[in-house]
Formats: sequence, structure tokens, C-alpha cells
Amino acid sequence: MTIQNEVLSAIAARRSCRAYLPEQIKPEELQAVLEAGTWAPTGMNRQSPIIVVVQDKETRDKLSAMNAAVMGNNGDPFYGAPTVLVVLADRNMSTHVEDGSLVLGNLLLAASSIGLGSCWINRAKEVFDTEEGKALLRKWGLDADRYRGIGNCILGYPAQGGIKPAAPRKPDYVVYV
Ligand SMILES: Cc1cc2nc3c(=O)[nH]c(=O)nc-3n(C[C@H](O)[C@H](O)[C@H](O)COP(=O)(O)O)c2cc1C
Repeated sequence: MTIQNEVLSAIAARRSCRAYLPEQIKPEELQAVLEAGTWAPTGMNRQSPIIVVVQDKETRDKLSAMNAAVMGNNGDPFYGAPTVLVVLADRNMSTHVEDGSLVLGNLLLAASSIGLGSCWINRAKEVFDTEEGKALLRKWGLDADRYRGIGNCILGYPAQGGIKPAAPRKPDYVVYV
């Protein structure tokens, strides 16, 4: 018999959302997602990541344009989502990429579990390695040489058609030895 509980069901039900309503999420929803992020395990509990909350439209649109520029286009890689959580991590700590990735995993899962749309959006490293990105970090009061971009978690209310069913899991995902 397969074990079932609320956490396992939430993990299996999480999907990326790629179309959003313009309405901003509620502060209590944001807080729940952020808190889940901070509970992620980190190497030696050094808590190398930080989560930058971006909700003002000007900064959100600037980040979107910088992210699109990495790909050489001018679309909105954030799919209209009104909130962007930028996860950065202290590059001086050896597990910073793993730490930040787990934070992102928690953010995505928590968001999905409370009915928000979410998606990991790549290219945070490239964005915050640029001079423009470093200037943004400094504007936010962060040490631009210390923090490396890990990923962006976009959040919002899903629009119609924003969430597609899961692709099947590959048959050889698990190897028993
Ligand atoms: C490291 C990483 C980078 C990703 N970057 C993007 C991205 O830039 N844009 C995007 O639409 N989805 C991105 N995704 C989402 C994946 O495409 C998505 O998780 C995958 O297709 C599986 O779908 P699901 O999340 O609905 O299960 C990324 C996911 C990960 C883990």
C-alpha cells in the first residue's frame, strides 16, 4: 500500500504556472511562502541564501527586461506574474547553489499548496553578474560581490490555461542497486 499524506499530495500536485492575473497576492500568502523558504535545509545550517521580494511594478518590469535581455529578446519571462522572489546566495559558502535551490523548491511547493501560481525562472546568475544587476543589488543594500543569483520564483493567481498537466515521470528515474 502506498503511503499518502498532505505533504506527499502537495508535492505531486505542484506544477509550474505560465499565465497570471494582474491582481497582487495577499500579504499573508506572501508571508506563508517566504516562511516556507526560510525553513529549507542548508549546508551546515549556514543559511547562505537570501530572498528579495519584488512587488513594485517598476522593479518587477526592470528585472523582467534584464532577464529577457539575457535571452536576447524583449518578452516577459515572468509571464505577467505580479510578484518575483529573487533567491540569491552567499558565493563564499561552498553549498550556496544547493542551499538556494532548496529554498526555491520550498517556495514553489508552499505557493502551490495554498493555491498560488508559481514557476522557477532561470537566469538569475546571468542577470546579477551584469554591472546593471550588481548596481541593483547595491541599491537594495546588498553586497554585490558576495551574492550570486540562484533563481527567481514568480508568484500570482493563475490565469486560465496557465497550468498544464504534469509530463510523465521517466521510467528509469529510480535506480535500485
Ligand atoms: C533550474 C530550473 C530553471 C527553470 N527555468 C525556467 C524558466 O526560465 N522559464 C520557465 O518557464 N520555466 C522554468 N523552469 C520550470 C520548468 O520548466 C518546469 O519545472 C518543468 O517543465 C516541469 O514542469 P512542472 O514544474 O509543471 O512540474 C525551470 C525549472 C528549474 C528547476
